[in-house]
Amino acid sequence: MSATTTAQFDFTGANVFVFGGTSGINLGIAEAFAKRGANLAVASRKPEKVEAAQEQLKAAGAPVCEGYPLDVRDHERVAEAVAEFAGKHGEIDVVVSGAAGNFPAPAVALSPNGFKSVVDIDLLGTFHVMKGVFEHLRKPGASVINISAPQAVIPMAFQAHVCAAKAGVDMVTQTLAIEWGPLGIRVNSVIPGPIDGTEGMDRLAPTEEIREAVVKSVPARRMGTPDDVAQLCLFLGSDAAAYV
Ligand code: COA
Ligand code: NAP
Repeated sequence: MSATTTAQFDFTGANVFVFGGTSGINLGIAEAFAKRGANLAVASRKPEKVEAAQEQLKAAGAPVCEGYPLDVRDHERVAEAVAEFAGKHGEIDVVVSGAAGNFPAPAVALSPNGFKSVVDIDLLGTFHVMKGVFEHLRKPGASVINISAPQAVIPMAFQAHVCAAKAGVDMVTQTLAIEWGPLGIRVNSVIPGPIDGTEGMDRLAPTEEIREAVVKSVPARRMGTPDDVAQLCLFLGSDAAAYV
């Protein structure tokens, strides 16, 4: 029997910024922190998604939720948003970098710009977030969580662009863990499995037949939920993960 059914974490007073936190897995992560009392900020391209997420996160319990409509490919906007949030609320305790783009395409049918778009959002965007937040992270104590994907470590057909981008994200994560660890900043990446009801899964598993094959490939024989991923992020964001 497990010791508890739900991990208990208290993020009252903590400042948490979730890039790409307006839908799917990242919104689920933001909501888990909101429910535990954190001050939130979310950023993504579409202003209507940002506004809706702000409302949802405040209703979930976030005392404040700032919203920043921006594209992570624009490093100046990323840096401005982080500086504004930190200027209002103080040093940042947890950053989740999860903005990403994906579509299945055979490499020969992928234009250079199609490949570049995904690398620019996932990999360059992650670097922009890392650059933008560094100055404003709590030192010591901050936790940086980059959202990776199985494609970072498992070659996958029709995913050359995503495999390249997410493998790069994981190397940035590991390099910064080495550079920033001595300052008391922990940098980790999380690799979710297939998560049900998300844009990513809808694009990669559009038919019932593919969904069944995906489920069979998972040891637990089910797809995950955003909250499954969020529980790990709560742990990584907390002092329970001080040596991770
Ligand atoms: N197959 C092949 N190429 C595609 C494609 C597809 N399904 N979708 C887009 N592209 C190509 C476009 O043709 C374009 O290349 P071109 O200029 O040579 O024609 C390039 O990708 C950029 O497309 P564009 O629509 O201008 O990019 P964008 O910056 O507006 O959007 C995407 C980025 C393409 C990644 C888009 O799918 C997106 O916004 N995704 C976010 C949501 C998402 O993917 N969620 C899942 C996360 S895992
Ligand atoms: P999603 O709902 O589409 O989430 C992507 C988020 O990023 C959205 O909030 C989107 O909002 C934002 N975004 C996209 N491009 C952006 C850009 N250029 N600048 C700023 N924000 C941008 O998809 P998801 O499936 O939940 O995926 C979330 C994360 O989990 C991604 O990093 C993905 O690689 C990873 N992942 C997903 C799965 C899965 O099963 N779904 C599995 C493994 C890993 P806007 O459209 O408003 O910009």
